[in-house]
Amino acid sequence: MSRVKNSLKAAIVRAHFAMPCSPMPPEKRSILVTSALPYANGPLHLGHMLEQVQTDIWVRFQRSRGHECLYVCADDAHGTAIMLSAEKLGITPQQQIDRIHAAHQRDSEAFLISFDNFYTTHSAENRQWCEYIYARLKANGHIAEREITQSYDPEKGLFLADRFIKGTCPRCRTPDQYGDNCEACGATYTPAELIDPVSALSGATPVEKASRHFFFRLPAFADMLREWIGSGTLQPQIANKLREWTDTELHEWDISRDAPYFGFEIPGETNKYFYVWLDAPIGYMGSFQDYCTRTGTDFDRFWRSGHDSELYHFIGKDIVNFHGLFWPAMLHSAGLRTPSGIFAHGFLTVNGTKMSKSRGTFINASTYLEHLDAEYLRYYFAAKLGAGVDDIDLNLEDFVQRVNADVVGKVVNIASRCAGFLRKGYDNRLAASCSEPELLHAFIAAGEEIAERYESREFSKAVRDIIALADRANQYIDHHKPWILAKDPANADQVHAVCSVGINLCRVLMIYLKPVLPRMAEKAEAFLQTSLDWTALEQTLLDHELRAFTPLLTRIDAKQVAAILDAERQAAEAAHVQSEPAKTGTAEKAPGVEIASEIAFEDFARVDLRVAKVISAEAVDGADKLLRLTLDLGSLGEREVLSGIKVAYAPADLVGRLTVVVANLAPRKMRFGTSEGMVLAAGPGGKDIFLLAPDSGATPGMQVK
Ligand code: MSP
Ligand code: ZN
Repeated sequence: MSRVKNSLKAAIVRAHFAMPCSPMPPEKRSILVTSALPYANGPLHLGHMLEQVQTDIWVRFQRSRGHECLYVCADDAHGTAIMLSAEKLGITPQQQIDRIHAAHQRDSEAFLISFDNFYTTHSAENRQWCEYIYARLKANGHIAEREITQSYDPEKGLFLADRFIKGTCPRCRTPDQYGDNCEACGATYTPAELIDPVSALSGATPVEKASRHFFFRLPAFADMLREWIGSGTLQPQIANKLREWTDTELHEWDISRDAPYFGFEIPGETNKYFYVWLDAPIGYMGSFQDYCTRTGTDFDRFWRSGHDSELYHFIGKDIVNFHGLFWPAMLHSAGLRTPSGIFAHGFLTVNGTKMSKSRGTFINASTYLEHLDAEYLRYYFAAKLGAGVDDIDLNLEDFVQRVNADVVGKVVNIASRCAGFLRKGYDNRLAASCSEPELLHAFIAAGEEIAERYESREFSKAVRDIIALADRANQYIDHHKPWILAKDPANADQVHAVCSVGINLCRVLMIYLKPVLPRMAEKAEAFLQTSLDWTALEQTLLDHELRAFTPLLTRIDAKQVAAILDAERQAAEAAHVQSEPAKTGTAEKAPGVEIASEIAFEDFARVDLRVAKVISAEAVDGADKLLRLTLDLGSLGEREVLSGIKVAYAPADLVGRLTVVVANLAPRKMRFGTSEGMVLAAGPGGKDIFLLAPDSGATPGMQVK
């Protein structure tokens, strides 16, 4: 039987036969946990945070129970998408991944994600493990080599993955569809079936070109995988999905890519690189290796078989095949341990639908953090997360209501109701005995079931149990009404007793909530002057001094939520986002996610700013904001530019005016045509956008900086 099952079963047995209220499992577990490595080509959004928060709650729970639980992650830095997005920004891939790394680290930290290490796959450690594993696979005869033919962009000099090829749908004839499926009619096809295919990168017509590739012989692992999948470590839905593959279609897996590619070169080959999805999961090891070197931790204890450690990967349901097929097979062939479990979750939706840029519901982690505290969302995610792969909806109204009602209205309320009386009448000192031992005992005893719920990732059930206890604590206080008792000095002892019980009940609740709300728990620890680790569950506070009470968490103002949506909507408009973000598929995701980060002076220097004269201007059919301008750039000739300044200017008023344009901007295909540059204007927007007047003395084509 699997290790997870064993330890779960052990926990249940302990729950029944251990000493009454013994909160601690006797043996200390050693656990290594990962979240999927976010791509280094865009900022973290709330979908990423759902995963990191889920993982972090589980990790913090294990640590609170006294176990050794290490949590590593990294940026997934390699691949064509990252190479292209760096190119688009005019920077090197290294500069791109460094910037993104800093931004990812900052956002995760602000969400209180307690990584032991957040590294990068573009590291010496990762390269070393990739080479080691590849050498083992090769020595074991698990690498095949053969020539294949693929679409190639002759202009860019790049082989094109399906999503980089566009054309007309062979079924419904909608133009401009990606190489694998049609967004209009839903047909799926191969790029070869597209009518008039073009490279999405250059517009060139792709040609077929042969090249030698390396393959991992996955079919050789069918039996091994069937056994691993059947060992009970996986969620049933995931095991079923994987079984469909092992039972019908295990194909050899192409693990090489031709230059140019941003990644690790395959040892002993020229111009051949490891495919990003080969080195990405090995990145878990690379990150952990770096952690071990820094801290003197024994690497082998977690990655070689024969040790009593556990290894879990938290991932989204879109990357199950990589973690449930290729990864365990590779580890197995390389003589390394396989994961104890893969924990897949569903996707985050906002207000019931896929996150959307135009609606403002594609929310970046940093935008959220500008307006709201991370703990609110941590609580809401916990209140919705289960062990399955269902999608999780962030309903923004429900979010405000639930956090305010549960955490502020119920949990924090208990402490604030009692703290005032204790400070005023009792020198902030708790009573020397507990007047309600049975109630307190019931709260402590509930910990066994709550712990099981955390262990099995049924966080929503844990939260439901905890809030039910908070209701009981509030009922207890409502029943005794210390605010009425306190009016008569004869009741002094009773008020002291009730408020001391209230604080002790609240202490237990804070222990249960600490994995979800670590900062609030930290404040409570300062107030209570005690540890809120699960290991301290039975340490009732008697004749104990409290510190001054500071509000643990305040209510969410719904206006803040509206401000987040506004900010994202505006950002989307500013970026001229005409379509939804690329869907997340099972491979590298499409490039081109906008990054708002500092640019170096050299980057700015590359921008060619020129004076241009408006020759003609006209409204664009069907577009609310756009004007089509024909510009005279002097020696650079004429350009047609689409500009969103219709509200500010009637077309006739523009003719003859001078403006500044970015002359070396690559032509951009927009919904209403191609724009061959960008007009720069100043002003707050709306009607107040200012172009230069005709008499400013500048001549078209003149360089501006
Ligand atoms: N780089 C790969 C993972 C390599 S792991 C060896 C990748 N990156 S990602 O940035 O696209 O996604 C990182 C994680 O975030 C994945 O587990 C993915 O499922 C998850 N999510 C991305 N969007 C999400 C939602 N909207 N909702 C929930 N999780 C989402 O895949
Ligand atoms: Zn179609």
